[in-house]
Amino acid sequence: METKLFTAKEIKPAAALIRQGALVAFPTETVYGLGANALNEQAVKQVYAVKGRPSDNPLIVHVSHFEMVKQYVTDFPVHTKQLVDSFWPGPLTLIFTVKPDTFSKTVTGGLKTVAFRMPNNAQTLDLINQAGVPIVGPSANTSGKPSPTTAQHVYHDLQGKIAGILDDGPTQIGVESTVVDLTAADGIPVILRPGAITKEQLEEVVGTVKVDQHLISEKETPKAPGMKYKHYSPDVPVWIIDGDSQVVEKAIEWAKSENKRIGLYVDDILSEKFSEKVEEIFSFGESNVEQATKFLFAGLRSLDERNIDVIFAQNFPETGLGIAYMNRLKKAANQKILKIDSIFE
Ligand code: TXA
Ligand code: MG
Repeated sequence: METKLFTAKEIKPAAALIRQGALVAFPTETVYGLGANALNEQAVKQVYAVKGRPSDNPLIVHVSHFEMVKQYVTDFPVHTKQLVDSFWPGPLTLIFTVKPDTFSKTVTGGLKTVAFRMPNNAQTLDLINQAGVPIVGPSANTSGKPSPTTAQHVYHDLQGKIAGILDDGPTQIGVESTVVDLTAADGIPVILRPGAITKEQLEEVVGTVKVDQHLISEKETPKAPGMKYKHYSPDVPVWIIDGDSQVVEKAIEWAKSENKRIGLYVDDILSEKFSEKVEEIFSFGESNVEQATKFLFAGLRSLDERNIDVIFAQNFPETGLGIAYMNRLKKAANQKILKIDSIFE
């Protein structure tokens, strides 16, 4: 199959393909999604097949306006309207109780619930409107690899396997949406996956919000099936390191003593400082967590393709967006944090 690249102006042919049951990747503000008609069982099955995704991991259904959700859910829990008014379109996925006999098990992973999101991307909202159907959209990467933040990443993973990619340049945020379950019996929203909409932002709108504990302890049985899978990993081992330049220096010394070729994922200050001392660097630019988050997956993908044995990636404090950044980075690093003291004791 030839994978066609559509520009942002070619929505019509891309929407026609979706309607016909073909797979078309689409841009969002978070990462690129792998689009298929959510009401077409064969098309949704194909999404799992091309990604190599375990079939009990449910999909997010993308809509172009809130009214579209109504016919697929049993009810709207108390905080729905405030959350939708405040954050849609945007990087917030909301989980509702699914109306029986609407979506297939392939969409919901056999759960009694279904996840919805209205992405903040004009092309994709237009795509959904023109297709006239809700569109499932997991991240458009091969399962287990870092999510795609450019059309080129999608092409790299899925060329020849999908009908098209709608290219709207690099995504703004760089990590997937915040997933919030609204179906708890006590009515309190629960964050299942951290993203750019933070707990504090949600609490400003709806009061108390809980965080699912398995986000902290990886050993517990996950509530959302998707969370038990190791995600976002490049092939080269990733270690999280502190951004203090003495710590970076020690980490480099250690890797060299082990004859490892080094790749750094760091800000431009550290990048400049250590450019002569390591084999490869991907700088995310200015030293802030927004930049680090925006380029995390692109940086890991890029470094993974170079001739190195280890990636050292800069950490950030786990507050605000830093929670989502560290959540993804820890998964990529398989929770490995380089403790300099224990290496050089
Ligand atoms: O930003 C995003 O959310 C991107 C873009 C493309 O929209 N999509 C995305 O999809 O990240 P995916 O399939 O890679 O992640 C969906 C997450 C998984 O962790 C899945 O387990 C969870 O949402 N999920 C989906 N439906 C669920 C449900 N009914 N209950 C609990 N978790 C659910
Ligand atoms: Mg994904």
